[in-house]
Amino acid sequence: VGGSFGVAGREILVEEFMEGEELSVFGITDGRVVCMLVPAQDHKRLLEKDAGPNTGGMGAYAPVGIATPGLRAEILERIFQPTLEAMTAKGRPFTGLLYAGLMITADGPKVVEFNCRFGDPETQAVLPIMDLSPSFTGILASVANGDGIPENVSSPARGAGVTTVLAAANYPDKPRDGDAISIPEDLGDVLIFHAGTAQRRTGELVTAGGRVLSVTGRAATFEEAQRLSRQAAERISFEGKQFRGDIGWRELDRAAR
Ligand code: GLY
Repeated sequence: VGGSFGVAGREILVEEFMEGEELSVFGITDGRVVCMLVPAQDHKRLLEKDAGPNTGGMGAYAPVGIATPGLRAEILERIFQPTLEAMTAKGRPFTGLLYAGLMITADGPKVVEFNCRFGDPETQAVLPIMDLSPSFTGILASVANGDGIPENVSSPARGAGVTTVLAAANYPDKPRDGDAISIPEDLGDVLIFHAGTAQRRTGELVTAGGRVLSVTGRAATFEEAQRLSRQAAERISFEGKQFRGDIGWRELDRAAR
């Protein structure tokens, strides 16, 4: 026992293989009440139709058709509430943003991971379609200040958001830095989020990281948001650019069924 893994090889962890669709669910919580944001779906594989190596995320969209009100209620009751209650019972109450990375299996939602932060790139799809009115920012402020949030708080979202990540040459292995980036000025109604970019003294914008930029299309329908996002991703250019033109393909498959 142990083999070439040394001491670490003395213990083997066997994990359940979970099959289904992933769902990223963000909940802002005071430790008791949860304000669930509109669930999103990430695309971890590098290539279209979920092929190729795993990445930090090549794109995301929201809302997700499978996240029905019934499923959201189940996620709240079976995952968020017991987790928060257990943390309080252990004397470590959690407040802030709890991100549940879930697999929606044939037996219902199961937890893949928890994070105590927003997700990337899901946030770029979720926040732009949310109503960021004073009531929502008030919830953030209340949690940050240690005040409670009211029962049944909601975070309305409108339309659809689709985010496409533009990755550098050789991502995810050894992403190449220093490729000049060109962003046309007439990309239309899209949001561009810089991540792995840098500006040279000359003003030139260059790649400086694996996931270089992401571009979010927002529209009344999923199809239009996807078209805006993909079109902008096609038109932004740098040497070795990689992106997926199929962000949200499961949503389209669902609509076609
Ligand atoms: N999208 C995955 C993460 O933020 O961890």
